[in-house]
Amino acid sequence: MRAVLQDRYGPAEVVRVGDVPEPVPADDEVLIRIRAASLNGSDRENLVGSPFYARLGGLRRPRNPVPGSDIAGVVAAVGSAVTEFAVGDAVFGELAGYRGGLAEYVATAPRLLARKPTGLSFLDAAAIPQAGCIAFKSTRGIKSGDRVLVNGAGGAGGALVIGLAKHLGATVTAVDRADKAEHLLRVGADDTIAFEHEDWADQRGRYDRVVDLVGHRSPFRVHRALRPGGMYLMVGGHARVLLAMFAAGWSIRKDGKRVRVLAVPQSRADLEEVTALLIDGEAVGVVDRVYPLEEAPAAFARLAAGDNLGKIVIEMP
Ligand SMILES: NC(=O)c1ccc[n+]([C@@H]2O[C@H](COP(=O)([O-])OP(=O)(O)OC[C@H]3O[C@@H](n4cnc5c(N)ncnc54)[C@H](OP(=O)(O)O)[C@@H]3O)[C@@H](O)[C@H]2O)c1
Repeated sequence: MRAVLQDRYGPAEVVRVGDVPEPVPADDEVLIRIRAASLNGSDRENLVGSPFYARLGGLRRPRNPVPGSDIAGVVAAVGSAVTEFAVGDAVFGELAGYRGGLAEYVATAPRLLARKPTGLSFLDAAAIPQAGCIAFKSTRGIKSGDRVLVNGAGGAGGALVIGLAKHLGATVTAVDRADKAEHLLRVGADDTIAFEHEDWADQRGRYDRVVDLVGHRSPFRVHRALRPGGMYLMVGGHARVLLAMFAAGWSIRKDGKRVRVLAVPQSRADLEEVTALLIDGEAVGVVDRVYPLEEAPAAFARLAAGDNLGKIVIEMP
């Protein structure tokens, strides 16, 4: 079968398309004929092998050379112990281990897969799993009228965070590169901040919730931008901030405000719930560009340059 291959960590140039044997599902696995797969910030991290957690799948080189975690496709075969899916079922989800999805087929345990709603295209379904679950967890508890700031909102996951926060009735400020402002307003942000020109963390007492997809500020500083009772959630970001949060027990309380790391475990239940919410809020369809599998190196070049506005989707032949 055709697959995207990454034999080592490095720039987008390490990505190529080649032939690998089609996987054979174990008794407790399903074989998925993948129709579409999407790229996340985590694929960019897994490409370069940084931060450190991006090397959990191989210290010196990726153990599984096929990148890609978010997929949508059709069950092509089931192992003898699988009872919940049958051949022909349309499914979508995030692959355990965050690899293996950029190929014509993948064999995987079915526990993270959900049935694809019939009205949702394979392309839109593939764009949801990781970003959707991040959006679901990071917007939980937001109330109508809350002021929400999303930092790093112009990449793969931000649009869904904005979409859900708006669906919950929040006023949303989105932070990213100045040239992404138009995109951020288009996907629902009420206003934008260009991080090259302004530091949102200099604002005082302004937000009920900050969702940080690219945390790089000291966790002992960001609470100042929160209103009393407000919460800062670090979803992704620099290793040194994660280490500081680890040293602080993952959560810091100050002046009635809370700063914490948000873990987003892979979950079928969350995926099903957030997909229903996104469809209800008409927040699906945040696809940046669709590339055929053979053009995956160009897709990775766009991802590595940070030029994507939302999700890059790879369509399988
Ligand atoms: N907590 C969990 O359990 C969990 C689970 C899965 C994933 N994650 C993490 O969540 C993050 C997901 O984010 P994503 O997929 O949306 O990432 P992404 O596609 O890389 O988007 C990040 C965006 O932030 C922008 N940015 C860069 N520096 C910035 C700055 N200083 N201030 C504001 N914006 C800045 C980027 O612009 P440029 O592209 O120009 O740099 C990009 O538009 C990843 O770090 C991933 O590892 C966490």
